[in-house]
Amino acid sequence: MTGRGLLTGQVVVVTGGSSGIGRALCRRAAEEGAAAVVIADRVEVGREGATVTAELVAAAGAEAVFIETDVSEPASWTAVVAAADRFGGVDTMCNVAGVSDNVDFLEIDLERLRRVMSVNFEGTFLGSQAAARSMMARGASGSIVNISSVGGMRGFARASSYSASKGAVGAFTYALADAVAPYGIRANVVHPGQVDTEMLRVDMRGGSPIRIPLGRKGEAAEIADAVIWLASDLATYVNGASIVVDGGYSAVI
Ligand SMILES: NC(=O)c1ccc[n+]([C@@H]2O[C@H](COP(=O)([O-])OP(=O)(O)OC[C@H]3O[C@@H](n4cnc5c(N)ncnc54)[C@H](O)[C@@H]3O)[C@@H](O)[C@H]2O)c1
Repeated sequence: MTGRGLLTGQVVVVTGGSSGIGRALCRRAAEEGAAAVVIADRVEVGREGATVTAELVAAAGAEAVFIETDVSEPASWTAVVAAADRFGGVDTMCNVAGVSDNVDFLEIDLERLRRVMSVNFEGTFLGSQAAARSMMARGASGSIVNISSVGGMRGFARASSYSASKGAVGAFTYALADAVAPYGIRANVVHPGQVDTEMLRVDMRGGSPIRIPLGRKGEAAEIADAVIWLASDLATYVNGASIVVDGGYSAVI
């Protein structure tokens, strides 16, 4: 363990853990003393994938398990929860998996809109539900952290489906925080700005030029650190919070 022990002994589930922010989060969770990290992701052509993440987790001293998952498929969640149960059950659920959709508003047909909504919003909803059920069944407290986006607080012409899906993640998390709090479970949402990952580099062609007061894009680990804090005992009174991690981008005109 190379961190400060913020997640000592925890079982942490990370969707989208094969890449980008999810991978950084898996590694940071292990560094902070997590006992096990469940990496829930699709296997995608051309990506280094879950093996790399699993090696990083193991090198940091935690058990790593990869479960091939489509977060938008309810049936996927049985195996994810079962994997966590082998280590005692999920303590922290991180709904990170997502897809972008960089396209003009008028080009989006219903099928395309539903694809984005099903991964970004429905996947987060199903993951939150699966984790909450698991925690409640064990009478365990826990933490759920959902990843939205600054794009879920504001909009861009070529991000209408993405913004809608991420806005839904934010609003849903507020309701979730109220629903699970009586069981000792906290739920919070993180809104990253532009983060240097494959999604930004490839899918969004580097992202639109924006003014970021800190003068640079974020690193995946900087988003992961906000999630780690929310999942830790440093945030025991933080529930239903919306944490913006964007270098100041959304604060300025
Ligand atoms: N990179 C940014 O600038 C940025 C900004 C704001 C929010 N985000 C959000 O952060 C999250 C992580 O994005 P990233 O930048 O690390 O991108 P990424 O493309 O590197 O990682 C996304 C991961 O989600 C997985 N995924 C996609 N669909 C899935 C599905 N149906 N089931 C399971 N896994 C699936 C992918 O395989 C991939 O591993 C996303 O929700 C994204 O919307 C990213």
